[in-house]
Amino acid sequence: MTRARLSVRGDDRAFTIAAGETILQAAMAQGLDLDHACGGVCACSTCHVKVLRGGENLAEPGEDELDQLDEARDVGLESRLACQARLLRMPADGTIEIAVPSWNVNAVREGGH
Ligand code: FES
Repeated sequence: MTRARLSVRGDDRAFTIAAGETILQAAMAQGLDLDHACGGVCACSTCHVKVLRGGENLAEPGEDELDQLDEARDVGLESRLACQARLLRMPADGTIEIAVPSWNVNAVREGGH
């Protein structure tokens, strides 16, 4: 298996993510709208997602990411910046599951997409 399933809570579409890819890269390549105001350089926190399953297979967050997450709303232990969360290895059950915080989803809708 070269790609893991990327499951998004509340979204029935079937996304995938390859080892070496970030969640944001995988999302953008497949038409999954995730905010990324700074363009994916860890300078905002709009790409905040919660990794519900498989998070241990992602690269550990660096200090920059943790600093940005400090500024984000509704942060939890499973919070990551999608542009920094890179898949290192295939999850044992083949799945990474994420949730997009609802205030992010609202922002996307209001953005007229
Ligand atoms: S897109 Fe700005 S920190 Fe991820």
